[in-house]
Amino acid sequence: MIVLGIETSCDETGVALYNTAPWENTQPASQGILGQALHSQIAMHREYGGVVPELASRDHIRRVLPLLDASLAQSGLTLKDIDAVAYTQGPGLAGALLVGSAFAKSLAQGLKLPSIGVHHLEGHLLSPLLGDSAPQFPFIALLVSGGHTQLMKVTGVGRYELLGETLDDAAGEAFDKTAKLLGLDYPGGAAISRLAERGRPGQFDLPKPMLHSGDLDFSFSGLKTAVLNQVKKFQEKNIDDADLIAQFHADLARAFVESLVAVLVSKSEKALKQTGCKHLVLAGGVGANSQLRAALNEKAAKHSFEVHYPPLDLCTDNGVMIAFAGALRMLVANNGSTTSGAFDIKPRWDLQSNNLI
Ligand code: KG4
Ligand code: ZN
Repeated sequence: MIVLGIETSCDETGVALYNTAPWENTQPASQGILGQALHSQIAMHREYGGVVPELASRDHIRRVLPLLDASLAQSGLTLKDIDAVAYTQGPGLAGALLVGSAFAKSLAQGLKLPSIGVHHLEGHLLSPLLGDSAPQFPFIALLVSGGHTQLMKVTGVGRYELLGETLDDAAGEAFDKTAKLLGLDYPGGAAISRLAERGRPGQFDLPKPMLHSGDLDFSFSGLKTAVLNQVKKFQEKNIDDADLIAQFHADLARAFVESLVAVLVSKSEKALKQTGCKHLVLAGGVGANSQLRAALNEKAAKHSFEVHYPPLDLCTDNGVMIAFAGALRMLVANNGSTTSGAFDIKPRWDLQSNNLI
């Protein structure tokens, strides 16, 4: 079965074609990726300091068809070869979701194919199955994106149990807001990570929120406020030496990353212990973070669990993960969960409510 995947939930338009044959024959799932094309709107939103929903929707409209053409050309396929169309049904920006949903459903109807609405987070948390060392079920997924921070127990495709989540800012949101405070462009996650590498250890004692809360929930807004307080204190000193300012930013970035990573790692270990799982999957945009990966690898080596990552280019939003998740759901549910003709987007959507069993 060849599934077309369409992702338009936020500021990336992603289109991909996925063939389920390798998965069904227990070959590496990544062999099923036939073609993929992606357009990031980051440059367009940057001058506004964040995503402008209306601009995002209009840009998805402009990009989606050329991206489909590019994916087809890459795969050497035509529209006639497609068996189903998967699209991001939610959660995300309503207008952006509507573009993908309308496009996918119209195409499916025109080609007389089934269409399936995919939960964006399911796309992220199944994407490590496309990596070199794919995990076996059950596993714990640490989902860290711009909009979500969750720990989930995954017992199979369509079988998810929420163990804990953020009570306020998501990890990616904390990265982006902190980046802004340190004068970096949106989205600042990767830039903070690079800046932190030049920071000296032990210069700031930032909080590690909810580290000892006893549950698996997170909170990051206090950490961001602590960074803001340090920035204000520094500004009061009226220092205008560019080197000193740069060093201050790097030191603070390092302290911020260390605090955030410490909490994410500690809660992930706790989730593994609590459930008896030996496999941890890191998914979502913040999963590209090198400090988080290094810390998880170190803990895994010491405490004999295994960490699985999606390929680096599939950490942030893309069409492949939507084609893949849609394809697996269709295989598991035997086409039972394909969607109707309506443009039924779900801007707010709880992943567990979409479980197959
Ligand atoms: O999963 P994603 O592409 O979009 C959402 O579904 O939200 O995640 C985007 C988030 C942004 O907040 C971005 O700053 C963050 O992922 N991010 C990173 C890195 N690369 C992307 N955060 C920390 N370190 C990175 N290397
Ligand atoms: Zn995402």
